[in-house]
Amino acid sequence: MASTVPRGPVWAAAHAAKSPLPSRQPLSAPCPGFRRSRPTPHLVRASSRTAEAPARPVPGYELVRPDRPLAASGPISADQIESFYQDGYVVVRGLVSGELLDRAREAAAALESNPLGSSRYAGSGWYLWEKAPVFRELAVSSGMAAAAAQLTPSPVGDTGGREMCVLRDGYFRLAGANPGCNFHVDDGGFWPSPRDEPHGPGVNVWLALDPVGEDRGGLAVARGSHTHLYLDCREAIAGGYTDTCRMDELAPEKAARLEAVKDCPQMAPGDAIVLTRFCFHRGDPFVVGSEGAAGPGISRYSVRYMPGEAVVEGLQRKIRCS
Ligand SMILES: [Fe+2]
Repeated sequence: MASTVPRGPVWAAAHAAKSPLPSRQPLSAPCPGFRRSRPTPHLVRASSRTAEAPARPVPGYELVRPDRPLAASGPISADQIESFYQDGYVVVRGLVSGELLDRAREAAAALESNPLGSSRYAGSGWYLWEKAPVFRELAVSSGMAAAAAQLTPSPVGDTGGREMCVLRDGYFRLAGANPGCNFHVDDGGFWPSPRDEPHGPGVNVWLALDPVGEDRGGLAVARGSHTHLYLDCREAIAGGYTDTCRMDELAPEKAARLEAVKDCPQMAPGDAIVLTRFCFHRGDPFVVGSEGAAGPGISRYSVRYMPGEAVVEGLQRKIRCS
């Protein structure tokens, strides 16, 4: 696939000055009939980075595609790599499979703690990698970690992926009429690393543990929403934890822009959505009255990865990938 991602030593700030926000976002069909439209252009400034003094990113330009071939070995194909940089996310089929996936599906329900005390999810939990070996294996040494590394290239030098660390993991089960968390990028609780972290924006790998079909209940992602065109959406929920999941209440017009570019992939267990830190996403409620809405719900396990050198704030724990 020919890439339309701009490459080369283009400074983001200079481009930002020439590219005011458009008054209206391009529309695409709502789920489930999502269609790809012309990708949102974003920029590269790889040549500004060095291993010794990485540049701090300009907001809206955190995802940088180096101007050179990227790692060919790993679970992400060359076309998928380009899609990731173009759209801010990519769907990877069968990222985890076999006995590892079976063990994860069995273990997940036993670790539900639901500490949110919220109607948004039927079940939830985190630090699963500390509680069950299968989740440590998933987080640290499975295809999930390999995908994150492949999409986090070294700033200079070879074409290999970077050493990564697990920043945070999470388990969620959406059931019945649960709305899930509305469009957001993860707040400091789930992404305890500075937003201008110079070593890279990081990667979130969302793994389906149950099938996601026409009844929905999975994840919606907003194509291209990691770019400067959606900085105002970040601002709308910048108030902290209590605002994170309320984009639809706090800024309905911004939520509508994100709805217009959303994708709600149907998934099989083991399929994954791999998204960059600043790509907006939300829980996708079940179709009202559907068979899925009357069922036990859909579980997912997600892991947030950062380059190994990245700063982790507060008392959060991080572990190295192997
Ligand atoms: Fe999230």
